[in-house]
Parts: sequence; C-alpha cells; structure tokens
Amino acid sequence: MLRDLAGKKALVTGAARRIGRAVAMALAREGADVVIQFMSGRAEALDTCRAISALGARCWPLEADFSSGTGSGSAGYEGLVERAGGLAGGIDILVNNASVFPANTLYDVTLKNFQAGMEVNAWAPLVLSRNFARLFGKGMILNMIDTRVTGFDWTHAAYIWSKHVLLSMTRMMAVEFAPGIAVNGISPGLILPPSGKDETYFKAMEKTVPLKKSCTAEEVADIAMVLLKSEFITGEVIRVDGGRHLWEYVPGQHPD
Ligand SMILES: NC(=O)c1ccc[n+]([C@@H]2O[C@H](COP(=O)([O-])OP(=O)(O)OC[C@H]3O[C@@H](n4cnc5c(N)ncnc54)[C@H](OP(=O)(O)O)[C@@H]3O)[C@@H](O)[C@H]2O)c1
Repeated sequence: MLRDLAGKKALVTGAARRIGRAVAMALAREGADVVIQFMSGRAEALDTCRAISALGARCWPLEADFSSGTGSGSAGYEGLVERAGGLAGGIDILVNNASVFPANTLYDVTLKNFQAGMEVNAWAPLVLSRNFARLFGKGMILNMIDTRVTGFDWTHAAYIWSKHVLLSMTRMMAVEFAPGIAVNGISPGLILPPSGKDETYFKAMEKTVPLKKSCTAEEVADIAMVLLKSEFITGEVIRVDGGRHLWEYVPGQHPD
C-alpha cells in the first residue's frame, strides 16, 4: 500500500526555496535523488543541493524559465524533463510546484497577466507532465494547487484561474496517464507569506482560519510524502489549510 521512495529520482520545480525546497528535502530524507529546477534562485538552489547531499542523496540544480519567450524553448519547460532525466538517469516523481502570484483583479487584469499566469502555473505543468508520461510512462506526479480554488481569490485573478485549470488538469491527467502514473495534488492554505507581505499580515489572516493557525512548508512536504508513497490514491487533492476552504460555506464571511 505504501511504496518506498528510496532510490527514486524526482524532479521538483521551484525547489530552490520555500515549499519546493521543503518537498525536495523531504524526498531526500526518504532516500530519493532530486533534480531541483530554479529560475532566479541559483544561490538558494546550490544551498538546497548542499543540504540534500548532506543527507546522503544526490541532487542536481537545473535552471529553467517557464515564462513566455524563453519558457517554451529548450531552456524552459519543453526540454526540462528530458534534461532532468539525463542528469539523474531517469525520473520517477514529478512535483509541479513553481508558480507566479501577481496581484490583479477583474477590473485591472490584462490578457498578458492571464497568459503569464496560465503559462507558468498550468501550461508548464501540463507540458512537463505529458513529457514525463511519454518519456517514462510510470511514476507519480504531484501538483501544487491552492485551497482558494474552492472559491476564488479576488485579488489574484489570473493566478486563481490558472490554479482552477491545474486542478482540472490533475483529474484529467489521473485518468489519461493511468495505470502507470498516479497524479495527485495538494491545495495549500496559509503556509508562507507571499513577497511583500510580512508576518503581521499573516497573523491577521490566521484568525480567519477555522484552526486559527498557519502551517510550515515542512508540514506540506509531509503530506506530499504521503501522497507520493500511496499506491492506491490518484486524482486526489488534499487541502492542507486548517479548514480555510470551509469559509466558502459561510455566506458573507469569506476572508479573501
Ligand atoms: N505559500 C503559500 O502559502 C501557498 C498558498 C497556496 C498555494 N501555494 C502554492 O504552493 C506552491 C509553492 O508555494 P511557494 O509560496 O513556495 O511558491 P513561490 O515561492 O511563490 O514560487 C516557487 C518558485 O517558483 C519559481 N518560479 C517563479 N516564476 C517562474 C518561472 N517563470 N519559471 C520557472 N520557475 C518560476 C521560483 O523560482 P526561483 O526562486 O528560482 O526564481 C520560485 O522560487 C506554489 O505552486 C503556490 O501557488 C502556496
């Protein structure tokens, strides 16, 4: 029922820091080797690799930009799974974690915002996943979604649309890539403040969550390990959000 991750080879996108780093570290603790994709965080990626090597696992930092222009080229998402597989000698686990989170509303969102959010947060995961399926045909995919897909995030319109698409893709891929590949998702809630927001903002947000707290990136990584180890779960999305999604059922009191 639970598979051993020791000796598996994983590609984790956006793994230089924050939640992606925690997932990469958790995989290494399980004995998996990890390719960590980064975009701007070269120094952080090297630091994560050092930390992974100290755990006795192998790690390769791999630069790629998923944004328009370069994103679709060989240095972007198109060639990434093949490059990662070449480094590690195959890939068994793909974690689609990299994401952009720009602020925009229905009143000011532009087509460019819409396309940028879709490309990095939904299109790149699709291309990586189908390339993974075509090249290796078996393994596990884990998509990082967002608990706000239960409803909306009015202040990050393009972002939330892309996450709605990623949620839909998770279920479609679970069917299309079966039986060789299990595809699941995690929908995090309040984990780490986005750039430009401090702990004060986060503490205020915690009061709006039923369990009145946030959780650490490591706690998200723990749930990621449960999904990746399971041999009988696919098409599932676990909310790691302290019950935040339940606000959708309290009319007029949604905190977003
Ligand atoms: N933090 C939370 O509380 C929270 C809540 C809900 C959902 N989530 C989801 O959980 C996942 C991880 O969250 P996070 O806050 O740790 O993510 P994050 O820090 O916002 O982004 C993760 C990584 O994505 C990479 N990235 C950004 N733009 C890219 C591009 N154009 N091409 C390639 N890589 C790019 C960045 O790599 P570099 O640093 O190397 O540039 C960044 O470190 C995301 O999918 C996010 O949407 C997080």
